Amino acid sequence: MYKKLIRPVLFRLSAERAHGLIVWGLRFCGRVPGLRGIVRGMFSVSDPRLEREVLGMRFPNPVGMAAGFDKDATVYRELAMLGLGFVEVGTVTPLPQPGNPKPRLFRLPKDRALINRMGFNNHGMERAADNLRARGHGCGGPIVGINIGKNTLTPAEHAPADYLKLFRRLYEFGDYFVVNVSCPNVAGLASMQTEGQLMSIVGPMLEFRRGQNEYKPILVKISPDLSFEEIDAVVNVVTGTPVDGIVATNTTTQRDGLHISRKKLDAIGRGGLSGGPLTRRAVEVVRYVHEKTRGAYPIIATGGVMSVDDALAMLDAGANLVQVYSGLIYNGPNFAKKICKALLNRY
Ligand SMILES: Cc1cc2nc3c(=O)[nH]c(=O)nc-3n(C[C@H](O)[C@H](O)[C@H](O)COP(=O)(O)O)c2cc1C
Repeated sequence: MYKKLIRPVLFRLSAERAHGLIVWGLRFCGRVPGLRGIVRGMFSVSDPRLEREVLGMRFPNPVGMAAGFDKDATVYRELAMLGLGFVEVGTVTPLPQPGNPKPRLFRLPKDRALINRMGFNNHGMERAADNLRARGHGCGGPIVGINIGKNTLTPAEHAPADYLKLFRRLYEFGDYFVVNVSCPNVAGLASMQTEGQLMSIVGPMLEFRRGQNEYKPILVKISPDLSFEEIDAVVNVVTGTPVDGIVATNTTTQRDGLHISRKKLDAIGRGGLSGGPLTRRAVEVVRYVHEKTRGAYPIIATGGVMSVDDALAMLDAGANLVQVYSGLIYNGPNFAKKICKALLNRY
């Protein structure tokens, strides 16, 4: 029904407008008494065999929502109705910022892909804190990761202060935190994936965490465009410090092998590519990180999970959990359920 009826309608709208409509639909379903349970019943599978013990938490299943869909933490509970075991909200920046001018999100249907240059549009950490406070403690709901990033206008030398601000302010609200240094749409951000830069960001965060009663895992999200040597540098930070794991990968700036015409691609312009064209590289990066760390560090895999087989390939490559974004847009709301069912068939 999604592919035949709903997707064609959504794909007639601009990609960002369609996103807004999906968010509205999720909220609507979440608010109408009774409907929440019906939607949850339609799209989720609950089975103890799907549970995963990762980062010191029990995930109800290994399929989560990748960062960027719920930037301000407004629909994380509703996303859980779609059978997603966890939701990564953000990227949140310290101050609100509008992001890049529209249009900034594009579909490449022939490639089952998206290109975005959103540029960390979000309402800032105070709004995220307000929205997450409503979550309360111990009242169920999905596991929530908070993806954090510096404001676009913050110069590189002050970036560590931005990350620390976010970590301190949001510490009580997240189940885990992701240091996003891999978004290609924020100038200079990707260059922070060196060992020195990363240490200057995570060092103060680790120090802050040492003084807290509750332990919150910290992961680093990496770009698929890093060379293996550059990935080694990130791995060194993770293995040489109490950083807990890696999220691999963000979107790519590569454009090789696409079916979309050169003319249309040029008209779209710059941005991070996600979806089908990313699958192979993302699986390769996950496998590399897994081998390099000898499986000792949790990996959350994201990037081109467009089918059940892609999700299984990620888990087989060493991922502990997988996240979807483009795959959900192209496959529809029962995508997580399909993956979970395939996992159950493996037992
Ligand atoms: C519209 C859009 C916005 C995104 N925003 C963020 C973001 O704010 N922070 C982040 O870490 N990743 C962001 N991402 C990247 C996704 O989290 C994910 O890493 C990437 O899309 C690859 O997964 P996919 O191929 O399943 O889409 C965004 C992706 C898209 C498509």
